[in-house]
Amino acid sequence: MSALISDEIKQRAAFVSEVKKRDMYTYCLEITSSCANEMTVAGKRCVNFISNNYLGFSTHPKVKEAAAEAIKKYGLGIGGSPLMCGTTDLHNRLKERIASVYCQGGAALFASGYQALLGSVQATVGKGDAALLDQLVHRSIVDGVTLSGCDKRMWMHNDMEDLESLLERAGKKYRRMLIIVDSVYSMDGDIANLPEMKRLAGKCGALILIDEAHSLGVIGKKGHGLLDHYDMPGGADVISGTFSKFAGAVGGFVAGPEEFISYLNHAASPYMFSASLPPVLCAGVLASFDLLESEPEWVERLRGNVKYFISGLKEMGFDTGPSKTPVVPLMIRDQEKTMLFNRMILDRGIYASPVVYPAVAPSESRIRLGVIATHTRDDLDRSFEVFKEVGKKLEII
Ligand SMILES: Cc1ncc(COP(=O)(O)O)c(C=O)c1O
Repeated sequence: MSALISDEIKQRAAFVSEVKKRDMYTYCLEITSSCANEMTVAGKRCVNFISNNYLGFSTHPKVKEAAAEAIKKYGLGIGGSPLMCGTTDLHNRLKERIASVYCQGGAALFASGYQALLGSVQATVGKGDAALLDQLVHRSIVDGVTLSGCDKRMWMHNDMEDLESLLERAGKKYRRMLIIVDSVYSMDGDIANLPEMKRLAGKCGALILIDEAHSLGVIGKKGHGLLDHYDMPGGADVISGTFSKFAGAVGGFVAGPEEFISYLNHAASPYMFSASLPPVLCAGVLASFDLLESEPEWVERLRGNVKYFISGLKEMGFDTGPSKTPVVPLMIRDQEKTMLFNRMILDRGIYASPVVYPAVAPSESRIRLGVIATHTRDDLDRSFEVFKEVGKKLEII
């Protein structure tokens, strides 16, 4: 046996091959439709509970029209990093829009949200600093901390007492401390406690970086995310996020003071050493920001669907954790049952995502359900019937 195949690799490979052998493997299925309320998955029409296209904007006619026009003018890509030929008028308009949404001096664009998080953390902290992470932050943040070379300290999820005690313990040791949170958590759907975090940060001069991936377009009066939700316009020092959820597209951003953004442009490796976001995506995302303003009914529809969906699942006896957002975990707490549950709902026309180790601990295994604004009541009611039947069969409810 080659040294490449460690015990961990063997164990994981055995799990995957067992799941495949029993026809419970539902990852990477071929999609032959757009990402709407229904999708064609391996040739079968299914209700879509797997995407993060929360507002359904990726298929909105105005977004498609803006993207088609940009493709005609600029073609597929721009052929260079932002510092080279990768900054068009569309990039500049999008950066201005983001800076204005977040009331910041500037913004930078990245080819993905993952890169934006890597770059924003790398530009904010370094050796001699500490990043204080909620234990459930996204992997991109953890990787950003590694890239930055600063010390990584974790605090218990959304536990302000634990954060306070960590700040007190770490306080004198570091040049700078950076608290990092997801505004809405990608697996549990709960919301970060920004007011308390800001109070604690203020006591010891710590900075705050928020990841708006699952909150932009979702929470807040104008749908602008966490700062809008708490009405705290200057509540974070650095704001990072992605276009893969609110616009159902690709690309990421960082917003912050002008001087910080100017520094980031020449210091964040995922920004400097990677090709620029294609102009077609800037055009589509700009059109999505326009829609957020001109058609606020999508945010309202999303919220109505979330309320209806979570209360329906709870009434049936499912555990949906602390979520009050479109990220709805259906807790199964057993890896094998989770894979089987997903296979069974897929066979009945519901497409969702099983979440098992290493994404979460085995005892936290769940089906992750993404509610979207374009779900009809009929879609949600159909899914209730399926969840009830499968939940009873597998003795989950
Ligand atoms: C909380 C969070 N942050 C960042 C990202 C990365 O975004 P992207 O998919 O645009 O790379 C994701 C995507 O899964 C996410 O859930």
